Amino acid sequence: MKKNVLTGLRPTGNLHLGHYFGACGNYLKLQDDYNFFLEIADVQALTDNFNNPEKVRKNTKEITMDLLAIGVDPNKVNFFLQSQIPEIAELTVYYSNLVTVSRLQRNPTVKTEMAQKKELFGNNGESITYGFLGYPVSQAADITAFSGELIPVGEDQLPLLEQCREIVRKFNSIYGETLIEPEHLLSDTKRVKGLDGNEKMGKSLGNAIFLVDSEDTIKEKVMKAVTDPNKIKKDDKANPDVCMVYYYHKLLNNNVEKVCSECKKGERGCVACKMELVNAINKLLKPIQEKRKYYEEHPEEVDRILKEGTLKAQEEAKETVKKVKKAMMIDYDI
Ligand code: TRP
Repeated sequence: MKKNVLTGLRPTGNLHLGHYFGACGNYLKLQDDYNFFLEIADVQALTDNFNNPEKVRKNTKEITMDLLAIGVDPNKVNFFLQSQIPEIAELTVYYSNLVTVSRLQRNPTVKTEMAQKKELFGNNGESITYGFLGYPVSQAADITAFSGELIPVGEDQLPLLEQCREIVRKFNSIYGETLIEPEHLLSDTKRVKGLDGNEKMGKSLGNAIFLVDSEDTIKEKVMKAVTDPNKIKKDDKANPDVCMVYYYHKLLNNNVEKVCSECKKGERGCVACKMELVNAINKLLKPIQEKRKYYEEHPEEVDRILKEGTLKAQEEAKETVKKVKKAMMIDYDI
C-alpha cells in the first residue's frame, strides 16, 4: 500500500521561483509513488487575513492553477480545500487540549510571523488572536487527518512539524496508539535568495519572480538585481560569488562556467549578463505559462479537480475522526 503524503499551501498569492525550486520540486518527485493530498490551506490563510477574505478566495484558484502549471498531476494528487473538510476543525478542537499556550508562544515559526505582522498583532504580539496562535494545532490536524507520513515542506515549517509530532505523541500516550508521527522532507534547494540579496525570496519581501510574471516584468526585476558593488565599468573584473545574477545563473544551471570565468576576467558586462538571465528565466517559465493558460481558459476543469480531490479528502478525514473519537471515548451511537 502506498504511504500518504500531505502538504499545504496558504492561498495568499501566486507561486514564485522560491516555491518552484524549493518545496514544489518534491511534489513532482513524490506524486508517482505516494497517495498524495495537497491542501489549499484557506482556513489557515484566514488566520492572518481574516480581514481580507476576497484575497484568500481569489488565490485558492490562482495557486491551484500555478500548481497544475508546474506539472502537479491531478490524476495522481488530491487537491483539496481545507475549508471544505470540517473534520480538520473538529480535530483542532480535540488537539487544543494537548498543547500549552506557552508552547505555542515559543514556537519559532509563530514568533517570526508575529513579528512580521505588527500592524495585525501589535508591536509585541499583544494583539495576537487565539486563531493565529493556535494555527500550529490546526496544522497538526491537517497532517493527521490524512495520516500524513511524509510532509514535503520548506525549512521554515520545521517547528510546526515538531509541534505536530508532540501532539501526536501526547495523543497516543493518553488515548492509545491512534495517530501516525509524520516525517518532514526538505527539498535539495533549501531556500532561494531574493534578487536583492535577501536570504529569502518572498512575496511579502517584494523581491520575488512569480511564475506568472511577463517577460517585461522579469526584465524589470532582473535589471535591479544586486551585483558585485566593486564592479563599476563593463570590463572591470568582478567576484561572481557576491552577485545575485550569478547566483540565479547557477540556480537555473545556465552556462555557469562561462558566466563565472568571463565575470572574473572582466569579459562580461552586467547588463548583458542580466539579459542572458532574463532569457533563461523566460525559457523556464514559457511552458509553465502555456500550461497555465489552458486552465485559465477552462475554469470548470479547475473546479472539477478541486471538487474531486476534496471528496476523496473528506472520506479520508472522516475515517480518522472516527478513530480519534473512539480513542477519546466520545463515539456515541446516537
Ligand atoms: N503552514 C504552511 C505554509 O505557510 C501551509 C500548510 C498548511 C501546511 N497546512 C500544512 C504545510 C500541512 C505542511 C503540512 O506554507
